[in-house]
Amino acid sequence: MLVADHITAQELYERLKNIKVGGSVCHYSLKKCEELVPLINEINELKREKNAVILVHSYVSPEIIYGVGDYVGDSYALSKNALETDAGTIVFAAVRFMGETAKILNPEKEVLIPASLDGCTLADSINAKQVRTLRKAYPEFTFVCYINTTAEVKAECDVCVTSANVYDIVENIPNDKIYFLPDQLMGRNLVKEMIRRKADKHVRYYNGTCYVHEEYDPDQIFKIRLEYPDVKVVSHPECKPEICDQSDFVGSTSQMLDYMLTTTAKEFLMLTECGLSARLQQEFPDKRLVGSCTLCRYMKSNTLENILRVLKNPMPIDYVHIGEETRQKAQKCIEAMFHYTNS
Ligand code: 13P
Ligand code: SF4
Repeated sequence: MLVADHITAQELYERLKNIKVGGSVCHYSLKKCEELVPLINEINELKREKNAVILVHSYVSPEIIYGVGDYVGDSYALSKNALETDAGTIVFAAVRFMGETAKILNPEKEVLIPASLDGCTLADSINAKQVRTLRKAYPEFTFVCYINTTAEVKAECDVCVTSANVYDIVENIPNDKIYFLPDQLMGRNLVKEMIRRKADKHVRYYNGTCYVHEEYDPDQIFKIRLEYPDVKVVSHPECKPEICDQSDFVGSTSQMLDYMLTTTAKEFLMLTECGLSARLQQEFPDKRLVGSCTLCRYMKSNTLENILRVLKNPMPIDYVHIGEETRQKAQKCIEAMFHYTNS
């Protein structure tokens, strides 16, 4: 658990003052913290009253992470937190597919989504009908879906993966024919990694991309390395293979944080959403971030105002609803991920 019940503006400012990323989005003065604190304290009180927890993805704005978040992490860690929490209500500050994952695993709990922009370019790139068509075309393949998919798409697939476990799970699946969807860049990274591991896998992949991660260009790495010869380049597997090949470390958002913990390097180029860079500035003030990061409009559409509203006065659209048949099929797909992660 991250938050205490009541905080002062000064305490909030101490938590946020080192953060300076994403243009004006993530810059905090004491005055800004004075404006934020009444909202934060009201949310934390309501949470206790309503037996609710707030799960927050690392890409969401820092005032949410460090003001009201009970759990913060990557999509794999958050899906485990959703499974383990005793709270009756889960407010999922992230994107809809992550809230759906929480509901799939906790059908008896209320799951509320405070994001005002509904979407993710990966989750929106494929629907259930398209998966059914692909399954007919490739009947011998095991269908592996990235967690960035809707509940309906998960319900049509065999195994779900996250950026934290995709390579190990695909290697462990007892079928050499794998259809990976929807991220083509992660699919291309997967093909390369299976070759590197000498795993006998024939991997086909779909054509989706994340608009935030596909932006990065190998020239940026070249330029930064000229200017900062000791820099460590850290990228997410949703980036192009040309980027991952030139990186010192590739992993999920939590694995990137862990990498920072274990290396003595001082300068980093983080090729992922700005929210993670903000966390790094807060948690590792002695390390320096160079270059720039990119913003995900869907993650950044979570606000303290929306969190307060969904807790106080939820509307039908704020709840995650999934038909029971779809939920059970999607649950199998997610449980297969837990099975392969533990095997
Ligand atoms: P993680 O699984 O690393 O949290 O990433 C989720 C995501 O949406 C990345 O763009
Ligand atoms: Fe989706 Fe990309 Fe945003 Fe992640 S960063 S939620 S993959 S659009």
